[in-house]
Amino acid sequence: MKFLFINGVNLNLTGKRETDVYGAQSLDLINAGIKAHFKNDKCDFYQSNIEGEICTAIQLAEGKYDGIILNAGAYTHYSYAIRDAIAAITVPVVEVHMSNVHMREEFRRKSVISEVCRGVICGFGKNSYILAGESFKL
Ligand code: DQA
Repeated sequence: MKFLFINGVNLNLTGKRETDVYGAQSLDLINAGIKAHFKNDKCDFYQSNIEGEICTAIQLAEGKYDGIILNAGAYTHYSYAIRDAIAAITVPVVEVHMSNVHMREEFRRKSVISEVCRGVICGFGKNSYILAGESFKL
């Protein structure tokens, strides 16, 4: 299968910021672990802090991937632009969060993208990405 893993705003700081919440591994290390897990699949990785760039990455994925695994970071909670980009393509998107957003601040409980995603996985740290990828194989 062909997967595109997209990480949004502030996820480039993974391993440095709030390590009690997001763990001590950098995004590069997490991505290396994902690549090793899905060794028989094609995995591409993209990270941007910029909302419009994330929308462009989603648009460009059309026709190229079997699935997108998206951790939009805080954009999850208010980006109608990312929501519309997901709705505009036919590639299924799984929404991912490393932390259990339901155990945290109230504002994190709302996602404006869940309604246009195939499913949501949260709370399993870096393994949330792997669980999301595996969901395409069931
Ligand atoms: C996050 C949860 C979001 O609420 C937060 O803004 C993030 C990371 C997660 O992976 O748990 O940046 O998406």
